[in-house]
Amino acid sequence: MGDKAKKRIFSGVQPSGHLTLGNYLGALKNFAILQDEYDCIYCVVDLHSLTVRQNPEELRQRSYSVLALYIACGLDPEKNILFIQSHVPAHSELAWVLGCYTYMGELGRMTQFKEKSSKHSENINSGLFTYPVLMASDILLYNADLVPVGDDQKQHLELTRDVAQRFNNIYGETFVVPEPYIPKQGARIMSLQDPEKKMSKSDENKNNFISIIEEPNSIMKKFKKAVTDSGAEIIYDEANKPGISNLISIYATVTGKAIHEVEKEFENSRYGEFKMAVGDAVVAKLTPIRIKYNEIISDKDYLDKILRNGAERAEEIASKTLDEVYRKIGLVRP
Ligand code: TRP
Repeated sequence: MGDKAKKRIFSGVQPSGHLTLGNYLGALKNFAILQDEYDCIYCVVDLHSLTVRQNPEELRQRSYSVLALYIACGLDPEKNILFIQSHVPAHSELAWVLGCYTYMGELGRMTQFKEKSSKHSENINSGLFTYPVLMASDILLYNADLVPVGDDQKQHLELTRDVAQRFNNIYGETFVVPEPYIPKQGARIMSLQDPEKKMSKSDENKNNFISIIEEPNSIMKKFKKAVTDSGAEIIYDEANKPGISNLISIYATVTGKAIHEVEKEFENSRYGEFKMAVGDAVVAKLTPIRIKYNEIISDKDYLDKILRNGAERAEEIASKTLDEVYRKIGLVRP
């Protein structure tokens, strides 16, 4: 397991749609801060995306797009390892092994599996079922200490820990048992039309989310349409005013102000004015990112170079872990 000066963070993101303001405020915004304090590895998990049908050209484009966005949001490709999952075969290889140490019952209990199989009832494939095993493999290959996870992924991380411990109990210390990383400040941003549910990049209703690289006009339109609540006061009350509360958190996170400061600032404003102020603040925050993104997304040579370098660095770590696992379980290593 080696001594590491810095703790290691591993995170994966599916190339399944444009990353949203929710992804930015909840996670990406903090990544640029983490890069100095931790040893960070960010993986575009393209293989995970195959569990639902993808358009091949779009999938390829979106994988580049995630990478370009990470860089546009301030991640330094030298300080961090940025790579695509399918470029490092050890992910699939370790997943096979770990699958032999994961029970059907455990996988059947995963809420995401249950949800996705009801949503895609025409395509309940075995990849959807074993999805968490591949995720465990992603994390355990790199001996990650910390994994930033939202609520929807906590159960998968729990399973990763169980599988790691199970393996360690049989074969001796092999894997680092990862902990969830809860960001010091990270907002949970909800859907603009349906503030009871999380803002999601794969939402069918495009008015529910703001993409990080969305054009200002479109951002303003969506905030104009955002659902508010009955009453007229701009106060934070998640239970009774989920719409306004969500807009307050967005504004607060984007501007770095406290909730009570935002309430004070808008105590004499109407919902309409407040929504426009939130839109303006979001546009101001996202514009430099969109500009940087547009600069690099068309430079495939630059992106490919980063990907090759990232895969090489990732491979070096991953292949050591895989080799150790293969030895411990009794596979021949000539
Ligand atoms: N399952 C995660 C999601 O949908 C993506 C993911 C795959 C991941 N492998 C990971 C996240 C490893 C963290 C660590 O959001």
